[in-house]
Amino acid sequence: MADIVDTRTHAAAALERACETLSRGVPVAIPTETVYGLAADATNPLAITRIYEMKGRPRFNPLICHMTDLAMAEKHAVFDPVSRALAQAFWPGPLTLVLPIRPESAIHPLARAGLDTVGIRVPAGFASRLLEAFDRPLAAPSANTSGRISPTTARHVADDFTDKLELVLDGGPATVGLESTILKVEGDTIRLLRPGGLDVAEIERVAGRRVQRNEKAGAAIEAPGMLASHYAPVAPVRLNASDVKPGEVLIRFGGKPLPGEDTAALVLDLSPAGNLAEAATNLFGYMKRADATGAGSIAFSPIPETGLGEAINDRLQRAAAPRG
Ligand code: TXA
Ligand code: MG
Repeated sequence: MADIVDTRTHAAAALERACETLSRGVPVAIPTETVYGLAADATNPLAITRIYEMKGRPRFNPLICHMTDLAMAEKHAVFDPVSRALAQAFWPGPLTLVLPIRPESAIHPLARAGLDTVGIRVPAGFASRLLEAFDRPLAAPSANTSGRISPTTARHVADDFTDKLELVLDGGPATVGLESTILKVEGDTIRLLRPGGLDVAEIERVAGRRVQRNEKAGAAIEAPGMLASHYAPVAPVRLNASDVKPGEVLIRFGGKPLPGEDTAALVLDLSPAGNLAEAATNLFGYMKRADATGAGSIAFSPIPETGLGEAINDRLQRAAAPRG
């Protein structure tokens, strides 16, 4: 079983252990405000290979590289003015920008899956302290087995990887709870490669223009992690439920009871008050709790498509997609 070190009570020890482990090319699970990441030295090909192996992740799916700040990011990627303005507005935070890689960047091509672009994010909290101490970019996908639900607690990570992992840093439950929003600026167009923890409406307000959604499924190849069934619990998922079948788990929203709740295996409410940010924070943990009951299926009541509801519904649709 992995060692779990609490970053809130043992910050210095956590930093020291993490830097030592990362320096050996061994991945470390770290807290970020979005979800827990499986971090490794982005310049070390062996370390990156280990991430792919531990996750069972297809090698064509590039990793997000985490940086201390915009200044570090500018050393590795070429920023257009719109990307720079978005970085200034939202970093540190749940925003990933896909940018052209600089030829002199030490980020290893394996981390980029051979692409001439790199996905960059500046995380908040303990991850940023670790980046400062390690002083090198950290490649970090979500710390889950490929295709499974992203972890929002240290316990989720430790349970998923068991003895495959040496060290998990525990920073408490992730505050955002959904992966970052991924954008790529192309000329005058801001393309949304993945809806996530940063509301698109906020991006549009800062950018002063509309963000373009991927209209066709094939376009998702640009963010390969967006393909096929993803974020899937073990049990089949039923969306937009208007009732609950006996023995099902119900995950509802907004405090609205559904017919059949009395014979459900478990009833959870993502946000009784109808707050979408709270719902986002709870989503993955509730899916895991639903799975832990061993119920035959999980029913979700409808979630509004506004604000963070867009990213929540995106994850739900992937959870409900036919399994590959
Ligand atoms: O919030 C997050 O983004 C978390 C935390 C740990 O930072 N990370 C995360 O990583 O969700 P992951 O690997 O699960 O998802 C990364 C996504 C994938 O869909 C990948 O295809 C896309 O980012 N991506 C990374 N680099 C890219 C690039 N150069 N071009 C297009 N998409 C890229
Ligand atoms: Mg992931």
